[in-house]
Amino acid sequence: MRVAVFSARSYDRESLIAANKQAGSPHELDFLDVPGGALTGPRLTPRTAALAKDHDALIAFTNDQLDRETLTALAEQECTCIALRCAGFNNLDLEAARELGFLVGRVPAYSPHAVAEHAVALILALNRKLHRAFNRVREHNFSLAGLLGFDLNGKTVTIVGTGAIGAVLARIMLGFGCRVLAVDPVPNPSLIELGITYHELDDALPETDILCLKCPLTEQTHHLINERTLALLKPGAMLVNTARGAIVDTPALIRALKSEHLSAVALDVYEEEEDLFFEDRSQSILTDDLFARLLTFPNVLITSHQAFFTKEAVNAIAETTIANLTAMADNSVPEANRVPGLEPAAA
Ligand code: NAI
Repeated sequence: MRVAVFSARSYDRESLIAANKQAGSPHELDFLDVPGGALTGPRLTPRTAALAKDHDALIAFTNDQLDRETLTALAEQECTCIALRCAGFNNLDLEAARELGFLVGRVPAYSPHAVAEHAVALILALNRKLHRAFNRVREHNFSLAGLLGFDLNGKTVTIVGTGAIGAVLARIMLGFGCRVLAVDPVPNPSLIELGITYHELDDALPETDILCLKCPLTEQTHHLINERTLALLKPGAMLVNTARGAIVDTPALIRALKSEHLSAVALDVYEEEEDLFFEDRSQSILTDDLFARLLTFPNVLITSHQAFFTKEAVNAIAETTIANLTAMADNSVPEANRVPGLEPAAA
C-alpha cells in the first residue's frame, strides 16, 4: 500500500522503515515533509488531510486530529485505512469512522512495562525530589533542606484502570511493599489473586497516598479527577497521570496544588498537549497560562508524553503498525488490534 505518514519524528522514520524492511517491504512509506525541511512531519488536521491524496492508507499518532471533518476529507480522497501507531484512540471520531467505512488498526499493547516503569520513575523522582537535587548538586549546593521524601513501603497506591499497564504497575508497587487499591469496572482476576482489592473511586480516594491514572480517556473518564474527587483524596497525596491529560481538570488541579491539598503531581500527559508536546519550543513564547502555572510549582514534574518511549516499545509499535497495514491491504484488521466500537466496520 502507499502510506502517508503523519507526525513522524526521526525515531518513527527509523523504526517504521526497519519494520517495513523486515516484513519484506510490502508498503511504500511516504514520510510527509514540511516546507523548510523540518524533521517532524505535519500533524493530521482537516487542513493537512489533503496531503493523504493518492495514498491508500495513513499512519497517525496520538495528537493527530481524526475528527469528522478530517475523516470526511480523507474519505473523499479514498484514503480510508488508518494505522494508529499508539494504543489510545480518543482522538478518533468512532461514529464518523464507522459511517464512512474506515478500517482502523491500533497498537493496543506494545510494552505495558515502558509506561508503568515511567510512572514509577516519576513517583520516585518526585518523592525524593531528584529533579531539584540534580540541579542543586550541579551548582555545588549540597544542602538537603526541602528534599525530604517518604518511604514507599507501607503506603497506599490507588490505580485507576488495571488493564495492561495498570496491572504491571500494580505488581511493581507490591514489590515496594505498598498496599495497592484498584479502581476499574472490569476487575483483573490476576490482580485479585495477588490480594489486590477493587473499590469505587470515591471510597478509595480518602485512603490514597499515591493516585495513579491508567485508564483510557472516555466520556466517563473525562475530568474524572476534578474539584470534587480531588477534595476526597487524602490530604498530602501525590497524583501521577500517564494516561491522558483530559482525565484531569487542570484548573481544579492547580487549585489543589495552591491549597497544598496535593503534595506533588507528576504528569506525562496534559489536557492541551497537542500544541506543546513532541516539539522543541525553547525559542517560542509559552501562551498556555495553565501550563505555565503548572511549571512554577516545585512539586510538579512534567514529561512530554514520553512514557511509551523505550527501544522495545518503539520497535514493537512499528512492527504492529506494519502488520496492521498488511492486513488492511487484505481488507481486514487483526482482531486484537481493532478499535473497540469499530468492529462491525472492520470485520
Ligand atoms: P487497557 O485497555 O489494557 O486498560 C485500560 C483499563 O482501564 C481497562 O481495564 C478498563 O476496564 C479500565 N477503565 C475503563 N474505564 C474506566 C473507568 N471509568 N474507571 C476505571 N477504569 C476504567 O489499556 P492500557 O494499555 O493499560 O493503557 C491505558 C491508557 O494509558 C491508554 O488508554 C492510553 O490512554 C494511556 N497510554 C499512555 C501512554 C503514554 O506514553 N503516556 C502510552 C500508552 C498508553
